[in-house]
Amino acid sequence: MASVAAAVALLAPAAVASTASAAEAAPRASAAAAPDIPLSAVKAHLTDLQSIASANGGNRAHGRPGYKAAVDHIKAKLDAAGYTTTVQQFTSNGSTGYNLIADWPGGDTGDVLMAGAHLDSVSSGAGMNDNGSGSAAVLETALTVAREGHQPDRHLRFGWWGAEELGLVGSNYYVRNLTSAQRSSIGGYLNFDMIASPNPGYFVYDDDPAIEKVFKDFFAAKGVPTEIETEGDGRSDHASFKNYGIPVGGLFTGASRTKTSAQAQKWGGTAGQSFDNCYHSSCDTMANVNDTALDRNSDALAHAVWTLGADGGGGPDDPSGSYENTADVTIPDGTSEAVSAIEVAGRTGSAPAALKVGVDIKHSYRGDLVIDLLAPDGTAYRLKDSSSWDGADDVVTTYTADASGETANGTWKLRVRDVYRQDSGYINGWKLTF
Ligand code: TRP
Ligand code: CA
Ligand code: ZN
Repeated sequence: MASVAAAVALLAPAAVASTASAAEAAPRASAAAAPDIPLSAVKAHLTDLQSIASANGGNRAHGRPGYKAAVDHIKAKLDAAGYTTTVQQFTSNGSTGYNLIADWPGGDTGDVLMAGAHLDSVSSGAGMNDNGSGSAAVLETALTVAREGHQPDRHLRFGWWGAEELGLVGSNYYVRNLTSAQRSSIGGYLNFDMIASPNPGYFVYDDDPAIEKVFKDFFAAKGVPTEIETEGDGRSDHASFKNYGIPVGGLFTGASRTKTSAQAQKWGGTAGQSFDNCYHSSCDTMANVNDTALDRNSDALAHAVWTLGADGGGGPDDPSGSYENTADVTIPDGTSEAVSAIEVAGRTGSAPAALKVGVDIKHSYRGDLVIDLLAPDGTAYRLKDSSSWDGADDVVTTYTADASGETANGTWKLRVRDVYRQDSGYINGWKLTF
């Protein structure tokens, strides 16, 4: 048990030595900018998909030969480019379905960035906007990664899903059959379903704020206004990932909803008409594709893969957003408080609404502990209360605090008070992720 004097000493100048700054001190080279994705290359893939549909009864629907032919076609291109591909089979509605997964060798396989699109169409047509557009853009992005020999920090994986039109069947099958370790290695999933609607809107999924920001910043820099995607949230394959807690994002140019006059004013096109008048119809052909939307969204896709593929791009172990202090600080028994400080510098603006506070406390009876996060201005955020019935020992968890009212820069503190006598322990370390 620590004496009062010792406890005071821990808070005196010696404690300053335990102030840590950014987990990674050296400024990292900024990630190379994403290359422009040529519209012509994306359209060539789309034309291939149209030909495949035409040669197979006019569609690429689940259970029909056009679907498997499309999988084989894309797989061959990826194999030739150096991808490690896997075709995953499943059964739906009495027919065999296929997901195509392509891994780009390299990067941190414990921190995977995925991008995907559903490759099946409905049976009524070739599905050029839905979803030849996303399939072709993801393919060209993957081929560009290979062509450039791009080696990002995170491991890249691309996916083409089967039987989306039957209710997200393929993507659900994929995520459900991962081990929990494989699932938690996926730090982000980006979805591209209908990104070339003929009367387009520019919709960005708002599921994960870090991913959303990458897309919004891209369009803002191009002077293209965006809106949050709301036309049937959860109606595409990102929902399969989100259901397991994986951060998701994506782009969409609209389906059967009507473009308002305000939207026509900012995006052009025709007010009072659907974003995609040929949605799920036989007229979803090459003529149903808006080139400008396809070009912008393909470039945005590549930009997101390049930006988010770098540590520092907002991934879960993004060192530029993480600050930790791993110095041990004794928690005095039922007498005083233990404080460990983290100095945050070089950020701009406020702390996030979901500031992550990773806490690692070794203790013999954690029910004794009251834990607060102290913002630079001293505002306390209660992370954990005491509870006499909680007899378990350590506290090893990540809390989330709404710190959006705080300035990011300054000295943040973890304050741990042991409010009952007898048991003791120490702060092993803690970490802030912005
Ligand atoms: N996924 C739907 C389809 O393929 C289309 C759709 C509706 C959609 N709402 C969406 C796609 C929102 C992405 C986001 O038929
Ligand atoms: Ca382009
Ligand atoms: Zn679709």
